[in-house]
Amino acid sequence: MRKQIAAANWKMNKTLAEGKELLSEIISADFQLTESRHVLFAIPFPYLTATSELIKAKTNMHITAQNCSNKTSGAYTGEVSVSMLKSIDINYCLVGHSERREYFAESNAILAEKVNLCLAESISPVFCCGEPLSVRDAATQNEFVELQLKESLFHLSADQIKNVIIAYEPIWAIGTGRTASAEQAQEMHAHIRSVIANQYGADIAENTSILYGGSVKGSNASEIFSMPDVDGGLVGGASLVATEFIQIINALK
Ligand code: PGA
Repeated sequence: MRKQIAAANWKMNKTLAEGKELLSEIISADFQLTESRHVLFAIPFPYLTATSELIKAKTNMHITAQNCSNKTSGAYTGEVSVSMLKSIDINYCLVGHSERREYFAESNAILAEKVNLCLAESISPVFCCGEPLSVRDAATQNEFVELQLKESLFHLSADQIKNVIIAYEPIWAIGTGRTASAEQAQEMHAHIRSVIANQYGADIAENTSILYGGSVKGSNASEIFSMPDVDGGLVGGASLVATEFIQIINALK
C-alpha cells in the first residue's frame, strides 16, 4: 500500500518555545503509525534541529523543510541549500507551495531545479501543485495541473519520481475555509495519477502518494482521506492546533 501521510505546514508561525510545545503535545498523543502511515512536520528553518531532537525516538515521523534554494551553494544571502538540510538529517522538503510560487515568483522551471537538487541529496520533495480560482472557474484545472507536473517533474527518471510526494492544493481552498469537496479532490487526484501512469506506467502511479491540501480540518479529514486516490493531507491552519492535527492523523487510511 502506498504511504498515507499527514503533513503539517506551520508556515511562518510559532516561536521556538511555542513550536516545541505544540509538537510535544502532538507526539505524545496515542496513535498508531503503521508501516504505511507517516507524519511530516514542515517547520521553519531555525527550529529544524531542535524539533528533530524532539521526535528522534519516533518512527514514521519526519521533520520537513518548507523550502530550499535552487542553487547549490555560494553567494546567495539568506538562502538555505539542500546540502545544508541534509547535513542536519532532513529527508523531506516542501517544493513549490503556492505561497512560494505567488510571493517569491517561483516558476515551474525553478521548481524543477529544486526537485533535482533535493533528489540528488536523497531528500524527498513534497511537490505542491494546484490551480487558482480563475482556472477552476474556466474548468481548465486538469490542464493547468498537468502542465505544472510536466514542467517540474516529468524530466525525472522512473527511479527518481518514486521519491516524490505530490500535494494537490487548489489555491482557492488554501486558508479560506473553503475546502474542495471530497469528490472534487478525488477527481483531480485520479487525474494526477492517470497523468503519472501515462508518463511512468501504472505501477509507479499506484505507488505515488498524492496528498490533498486546502482547509483540511479535524472535522473533514476522514471524508476527504476516504477517497480512493487521496493519500492524506498537507495541512496549514489546523496543524497549528494539537487536537485538530491529532484528529487529522487519526483520519489517515
Ligand atoms: P490551510 O493551508 O490548511 O490553512 O488551508 C494548506 C497549505 O497551505 O498547505
